[in-house]
Amino acid sequence: MKISIDEKHLYDINADVTVVFTLDTNELLHEGVLKELGFKATQDETCYISEFKTLYVGVEANEHDLFRCAAATAIKTLSKFNYASFKVAQGDVDNKEGIFNALVEGFILGSYKFETYKSEKSPSNLKEIIFSSKTLEDKTSEISILEEILVRAQILAIATNYTRELVNATPEDLFPLKLANIARDLAKENNLECKILDESELKNENMNAMLDVGRASRHESQLIHLIHKPKNPRAIVSLIGKGLTYDSGGLSLKPAASMVSMKLDKSGGCAVLGIMKAISELNLPIEVHGIIGAVENMIGGDAYKPDDVLTAKNGKTIEVRNTDAEGRLVLADCLCYAQEKVQADYIFDYATLTGACVVALGHYTTGLMGHSTKLKHSMSRSAFNTGELVGSLPFNRYLKKQLKSEVADISNISNKPYGGAITAAQFLDHFIEDENKEKWMHFDIAGPAYVESAWGYNPYGGSGAGVRMTVDWLSNIK
Ligand code: BES
Ligand code: ZN
Ligand code: ZN
Repeated sequence: MKISIDEKHLYDINADVTVVFTLDTNELLHEGVLKELGFKATQDETCYISEFKTLYVGVEANEHDLFRCAAATAIKTLSKFNYASFKVAQGDVDNKEGIFNALVEGFILGSYKFETYKSEKSPSNLKEIIFSSKTLEDKTSEISILEEILVRAQILAIATNYTRELVNATPEDLFPLKLANIARDLAKENNLECKILDESELKNENMNAMLDVGRASRHESQLIHLIHKPKNPRAIVSLIGKGLTYDSGGLSLKPAASMVSMKLDKSGGCAVLGIMKAISELNLPIEVHGIIGAVENMIGGDAYKPDDVLTAKNGKTIEVRNTDAEGRLVLADCLCYAQEKVQADYIFDYATLTGACVVALGHYTTGLMGHSTKLKHSMSRSAFNTGELVGSLPFNRYLKKQLKSEVADISNISNKPYGGAITAAQFLDHFIEDENKEKWMHFDIAGPAYVESAWGYNPYGGSGAGVRMTVDWLSNIK
């Protein structure tokens, strides 16, 4: 899809259709017809007036994320028609640039379709979107500013769609070695350094917790390490992703219904890949390490078992009481690896870690956990900037005690049923060195990473949760 900005007035731009986003129906060019057709401009309400080749889309309030949703609605509507191009004008609203950014993102996010496994694809005829740099009231925006926003918005939305596409791939098509090859391709394309550790190298690194989780799989576990390394970086950041290409639960097998969709369990790792793609294309002046534990959690004669005691990379012993709490075992080793290899200023991990986080916050919201209130606040701002939803879940020392084990240093599950998102994060905290406590933040994306009934600009399947807020946050490092 080609998206461009034209200095001409909307009416002088050549395109098949005009799209008008509007907060109300007053003073619109086709006010009379719209009223006749009962158009009220409620959020995502559409009205196409074929005679004037104009699509009206309602927006509830002047908030950028509502425009993102409306843009997705517009493009979904138009992709069913036979037109090749449409033009867009904005009203003279507050935060024009922010809304322009949201519209560009909304069009790209809204046009994403997952059709890899469909024998009949539904290609759209839409090829071109043209924005006018003049508002309907004839006020002109600085075109160079809009151009800059356009480039950035496209990079971010395309990286989000890239993450979605990876998450949606089936476990037979995307197992750990395949994910490693995808990371290699991304590295080649985007000039990143790339190291892949196979099982023998993981053994040399004493990453036995991660290896034990993947032992029953016919696919070898892989550690992926991508590096974006500009000269004189402003900061060094490590991003760690849970890359469970499938989570059957292991011997603590998931019930049949809960196993469906567990290809989603690589979403944290796929988000890290999407972030690496975006930050390298934006050429951010920060050194970023993307570290992904790619593993498949399966059953079989060689499976790790409840009652096993595993030894993580840092020497801590872990009593396994439930093999379905596998993500934290993989992340424990990856966090140790990250801290040993990289002296980072910030350490973030992304994981579809707990169903409890979905219970706590619902399906749309990422759980943010960590010791630094400052980090959680600044990430909340970035989430707001990009239309992602986050909620902070607080640690406390009583919950942490629930991870006590009678036989090892720590148990992999809590001995009480509630607060599972927090106790999972506190399990990870055992693998964060004292000097890194304030630098670390954990993103439980179990809620928003995979969409089972479409919401906003997210269709069924992978959503790309975590990508846009993190890139926004990284872009704001001074
Ligand atoms: N991958 C799951 C968490 C999950 C559940 C993600 C639902 C997305 C949707 C994770 O590995 C898991 O199974 N966690 C267990 C932990 C429990 C055994 C302590 C869970 O949440 O039930
Ligand atoms: Zn699990
Ligand atoms: Zn899992």
